[in-house]
Amino acid sequence: MSKKTVCIVGSGNWGSAIARIVGTNILDNPDTFHSRVNMYMYEEKYEGRKLTEVVNEMHENVKYLPGFKLPENVVAMPDLAEASKTADILIFVLPHQFVRGTCKAMQEHVKDTALAVSLIKGFDKDAEGNILMISKLIEDWLKIDCCVLSGANLAQEVAEEQFCESTLGVKKPEQGELLKMLFEKPFFRTSVVMDVETIEMCGALKNVVAIGAGIVDGMGLGHNTKAAVLRLGLMEMVAFGELFIKGCKEDTFFESCGIADLVATCHGGRNRLLGETVVKSDKTIRELEKDILRGQSFQGPLVAKEVYHTLSQKNLLERFPMFTAIYRICEREMDPREFIDCLRNHPEHI
Ligand SMILES: NC(=O)c1ccc[n+]([C@@H]2O[C@H](COP(=O)([O-])OP(=O)(O)OC[C@H]3O[C@@H](n4cnc5c(N)ncnc54)[C@H](O)[C@@H]3O)[C@@H](O)[C@H]2O)c1
Repeated sequence: MSKKTVCIVGSGNWGSAIARIVGTNILDNPDTFHSRVNMYMYEEKYEGRKLTEVVNEMHENVKYLPGFKLPENVVAMPDLAEASKTADILIFVLPHQFVRGTCKAMQEHVKDTALAVSLIKGFDKDAEGNILMISKLIEDWLKIDCCVLSGANLAQEVAEEQFCESTLGVKKPEQGELLKMLFEKPFFRTSVVMDVETIEMCGALKNVVAIGAGIVDGMGLGHNTKAAVLRLGLMEMVAFGELFIKGCKEDTFFESCGIADLVATCHGGRNRLLGETVVKSDKTIRELEKDILRGQSFQGPLVAKEVYHTLSQKNLLERFPMFTAIYRICEREMDPREFIDCLRNHPEHI
């Protein structure tokens, strides 16, 4: 097997945490991988200087993952075509709203033998307004296979090397073997599952449920109510998967990408925080994003909007009262204090 070159497309909080794992695993496997890892970085200013320059000088993403060194073989690059054109493995780790534009810009340059792996949690929409998985979008634009990695993996804790699990979704067993070499660490255990789309769907929908968990926190309600929100949220995730994903396997919901990620995100994470803040403030989501996140984005409201449109087109809103209520709360059409009332007559209770 010829040596593989790896490029990380994205360099925010999660991109930088995963670069620490990928960068060192590559150095540990010199027969399989070329040592240099290009990390595409959307250029921005940091204290008057280019962020790429600061990152390459300090070997630290001072804006998105301060306090953690990047391996020196990871090189931040602002030119997407230059960063990705030699890659055999492309790791996509951007907020989902930027993927389409990014793929468009790379399309001409990507090797036709390359393999993509998406670490992105979110959906896009196709021309008819239906939900489109990000892996599918990448495959359609770049004409290469796209696998996924998703799990209960809050970036800060992964950077601190606290033990966690993750799920690798692949289409062929050999892809699982190769990607395990890139991502597996004693503190980051990966299981390989052949159910790419369900893994991806879990990663997107749990951010919606997490807003609900945050609303419960914001209202000062306790563990029992939050547990009910998690359970009903999981049931809506399963129902959504069964309706919209061909070959959706129930077992996948019990992997790290499913229940574990849901629990972690409903207790930590920025979408939970958003839910809590939405109860305590009258500001819009955009205003809260500016106040709280310093350039990062809340994924949950975007996913809630896409889910709502798909469900309303298919006349299915009544079967998904939690997803529906969270969308309306995010749009400020509904008072968050009415959230629990929406769940009392949930289809799961009938
Ligand atoms: N942060 C986590 O703990 C975590 C964990 C697992 C998965 N994820 C997923 O990983 C993905 C990336 O999340 P993140 O937390 O690294 O993102 P982030 O919010 O930390 O970073 C935002 C990134 O987007 C870049 N950016 C801004 N405008 C851009 C543009 N127009 N085009 C391209 N890039 C632009 C910024 O430079 C920055 O690198 C998301 O789908 C997220 O759900 C995040």
